Amino acid sequence: MLAEVSKNVFLHASQNKVLNKAAKKWGLRFGAGQVVAGDTIESAIKKVKQLNQQGLVCTLDHLGEFVSSKAEAIEATQYNIRTLEAMNKAGVNCNLSVKMTQLGLDINRNFCIENMHRILQTAKKYNNFVRIDMEDYAHCQITLDILSELRQTYDNVGTVIQAYLFRAEQDVKELKGIPLRLVKGAYQESPTVAYQEKAEVDRNYMKIIEEHLLSGSYTAIASHDHNIIDEVIKFAKKHHIPRNQFEFQMLYGFRTDMQLNLAKQGYKMRVYVPFGNDWFGYFMRRLAERPQNVAFALKGFFSK
Ligand code: FDA
Repeated sequence: MLAEVSKNVFLHASQNKVLNKAAKKWGLRFGAGQVVAGDTIESAIKKVKQLNQQGLVCTLDHLGEFVSSKAEAIEATQYNIRTLEAMNKAGVNCNLSVKMTQLGLDINRNFCIENMHRILQTAKKYNNFVRIDMEDYAHCQITLDILSELRQTYDNVGTVIQAYLFRAEQDVKELKGIPLRLVKGAYQESPTVAYQEKAEVDRNYMKIIEEHLLSGSYTAIASHDHNIIDEVIKFAKKHHIPRNQFEFQMLYGFRTDMQLNLAKQGYKMRVYVPFGNDWFGYFMRRLAERPQNVAFALKGFFSK
């Protein structure tokens, strides 16, 4: 009950625009520095290099959401382009994750698509891949529509499907052949569109992972859940799914030992590395996911 209340408080905070705006000025606080790789491209690339040296591949995410002016969206687009250029220059093994609300999705659909084109052209030039993160349910259909439009020109783009949504299984079927990151889902969604019980989400998660793997499609399993990871490994062995058809993904700063262990066993392990000053929404969603993360944050708060 208490865990449910604190989860809701953190999820509400994650969507509070005033707090999100204020946090940009605070700098990385409350332990956020342990899960966010600094606030500049240079600091993020430095982290990625270290992770690559440990046998982990990465995806960089320039933090930001709720962009409401064209100028901010253009700035974010340019920042993402500079990030791709910096990755290429540094020769790191890393791709890019983006959120379309940061690129103007709530301002104008075509404007956002133009920004995506600019990012994808740059990624194509450097033979790199861009993942469109999935945001809340209100943005789900439009994200999939834009993905389908972009896929007519680019093969270096994919998205994310959230297992808590009732629609996830049908979406995965329709996205056969497209590289997908599969997750449980991080936002607060209504019982009219999403499973609310962990057991139901877990069951649907395994179902969509199996569906995408069996269809021969490249699958990223993004979870810190050791039970899910064990099941995926067993399933892949049983069905002779080649190791180069899937990868595991985890967030920077979480279950580092498990990340290294999977890499040592020869599995591709990608670390999602967020950076930048717009850290508040991301950090609040992580606190909502796991009550123990609060202790982690408090430790960071007191050690500041
Ligand atoms: P979950 O939180 O369900 O935990 C299951 C169990 O695993 C726990 O009970 C515990 O035993 C263990 N565990 C979990 N975390 C642990 C830890 N830190 N230490 C020790 N044990 C731990 N969401 C979204 O909506 N859109 C998106 O685009 C993305 N993108 C994304 C990328 C990547 C790389 C990841 C890893 C996750 C996302 N997510 C996401 C978030 C995702 O939807 C989900 O909210 C979180 O990953 C939490 O769910 P888990 O499957 O990790 O385990």
